[in-house]
Order: sequence, then C-alpha cells, then structure tokens
Amino acid sequence: MSRSAPALRPYLPDDAPLLAAIFAASIMDLTGDDYSEAQQEAWAMAADDEAAFGKKLAGELTLIATLQGAPVGFASLKGADLIDMLYVHPSAVGQGVGSALCDALEKIASARGTKTLKVDASDTALEFFRKRGYVAQQRNSVTINDEWLANTTMQKQLDGVATPGGHA
Ligand code: ACO
Repeated sequence: MSRSAPALRPYLPDDAPLLAAIFAASIMDLTGDDYSEAQQEAWAMAADDEAAFGKKLAGELTLIATLQGAPVGFASLKGADLIDMLYVHPSAVGQGVGSALCDALEKIASARGTKTLKVDASDTALEFFRKRGYVAQQRNSVTINDEWLANTTMQKQLDGVATPGGHA
C-alpha cells in the first residue's frame, strides 16, 4: 500500500494544545529504551504549561507535519542554526515525517546562509540524525524538572559535507 507524503505548514497559536499532546505522547511512547520513566515524565512535563510551551513554539520557526490533514509531528529551528525540537506522534513514526520536517528546516537554514546546523539529539534520535549526516561532537547532561538527561550535540554542514568530530 502506498503512503502519502506528509504535508508541512507553519505553526499557528491554536496548535499549542495539540503539539503539547504530540510532544508528551512521543516522549512517553518512543523514548523508553533510552530513558527511565522518571526521566521521560520530567521531559514530557515541559509542555504541561501550554501557554509557556506555545510561547516557545511561536518564538522559534516551528513547522507542523500533517497526514491527511491531521497534525502528526513538529519541528522547530531556534535562531539561525539549532534544531531545537523534533517530535513525531507514535502512530506516525517510520513514515518519513521526521525526515520531511528536517529536510524543510535544513533548506530554510541553508537559504538564510547558515553553513552548519546543530542539534542536541536525544539518545532516541541519535541514529536518525546520524543517517542524515549529522556528526556527534559532544555528550551533554541536562537537567529538566530535577532529572538529569543525556543528549549529544551533533552538527551537519549544509553543503552536504559531514563535519569532522568525535563519536558519541
Ligand atoms: N532509531 C533508529 N533509526 C531511526 C529512528 C530511531 N529511533 N527513528 C527513525 N529512524 C530512521 C528510520 O528507520 C529511517 O531510516 P531509513 O531512511 O533508512 O528508512 C530514517 O531514520 C528516517 O525516519 P523517519 O520515518 O523520517 O523518522 P520518524 O518520522 O519516525 O521520526 C523521530 C524520527 C523524530 C526521532 C521520532 O522517532 C521521535 O519523535 N522520537 C521521540 C522523540 C525524540 O527523541 N525526539 C528528538 C528529541 S531531540 C530534539 O528534538 C532535537
């Protein structure tokens, strides 16, 4: 059966509650192999304050992916060179939604003159980004709602050449 490609559109303020739900479902359902339940809960809690979460989404360049008109994922570019968020609903993983969102952010950043795009990738998303040509630079520990979570700073040169760097 052929699958339709996701469509993309910009974030609108009314989207905040739905994106908060996608964010929480994505973390709670997809990251359990890499993070403890306490870590997942602390991470997902970051969207509990929908007003603050909506303000963050509006303050960045946030794109929403839809399948048959329904939002199934989102990604945001912070400033010129940081992919800040990338979350796909568990019901829509493995269908190219994350790729479509990243393709778009990479094109936008490149069109703005950005040469090197960075991401602090979750352990769950590490392989996704590696496949796209991002190279691990350093491991980090960040504290979210009193829990410590590991991630990896990765970067990609937007001219298609992988940047030299360490390994995760
Ligand atoms: N592990 C290994 N490979 C993966 C994973 C994974 N977790 N996820 C995707 N891939 C691979 C796919 O197999 C596919 O490979 P292929 O091209 O060889 O077939 C390729 O990556 C592209 O996959 P998509 O279908 O485009 O990705 P998807 O829509 O499933 O989204 C994502 C991937 C965003 C990582 C999703 O699994 C997710 O939301 N995870 C949980 C939340 C999360 O950790 N987000 C990142 C936080 S860090 C940050 O936001 C910057």
